[in-house]
Amino acid sequence: MKLFTNKKKLRSEIRKINNISLVPTMGALHEGHESIIRKSVRGSGKTLVSIFINPKQFNNRKDLKNYPRNNKNDIKILKRLKIDYLYKPSYTDVYKFKTKNKIYLDKFSKKLCGQFRKGHFRGVINVVNRLLEITKPKKILLGKKDFQQLYLIKKHIKKNRIKTKVLPCKTVRDKNFIAFSSRLKKLNAHEKTKLIRIIKVLKKYKKDLITKKETYSFSLIKKKIISLGAKKVDYIKIIDLNTLKKPNKNKFNLFYAIYIGNIRLIDNF
Ligand code: PAF
Repeated sequence: MKLFTNKKKLRSEIRKINNISLVPTMGALHEGHESIIRKSVRGSGKTLVSIFINPKQFNNRKDLKNYPRNNKNDIKILKRLKIDYLYKPSYTDVYKFKTKNKIYLDKFSKKLCGQFRKGHFRGVINVVNRLLEITKPKKILLGKKDFQQLYLIKKHIKKNRIKTKVLPCKTVRDKNFIAFSSRLKKLNAHEKTKLIRIIKVLKKYKKDLITKKETYSFSLIKKKIISLGAKKVDYIKIIDLNTLKKPNKNKFNLFYAIYIGNIRLIDNF
């Protein structure tokens, strides 16, 4: 694994390689990242992982400060997974150049997390576009857990006619159906127990919506989630993944964003 902190050096190394797969991350790597990286390494080209905690996508300074960091462990994981390149840039390396592409924000950016995290998706698209301009990958691999982010990045790529293929990757869950995420590492045992109970209820809620045609209200389910120990519920919504609207058939994903303590967790299933 070759480590680069400077985009010029990275570019000169990979310039002639036309089959790079990019896995962008903010570090604090977990089983979900590992599964995405393994998928990339199994492919035919070279795997480039980026680790960059992007300040522009945090709508809250405290959240940025508290975001999990585990550099030593990240390096250990990436070496074990036998990736080819790691790009770990500074803020200046990422942001001190003029981009070719314009940030395209689809209207879906206003829904779900977009209603609660001002500027978040603009920050995500900004950094991902920069990483694409720097690394010019053939493919970019992104997790379906962050469905809204995945969708918006796809739209930006299409609008700007960027020649990078987006590969959506499955969500990896533990035995309690908790999706792995970096923020999860911040929960203590007591908070984790609360989350397990909440997820059970949300799973049952989805099942009831399908099988019993239950129409109990979102406000009721929100109350239930709070009573189980969530500090706040930003949203619980069901969405047809094809239309991005309220479903009229039984094919939908349940999206949620909740706080356990000060930790904001999102998922969809
Ligand atoms: O999903 C993430 O970790 C980040 O939003 C990403 C895509 C690396 C951009 O900073």
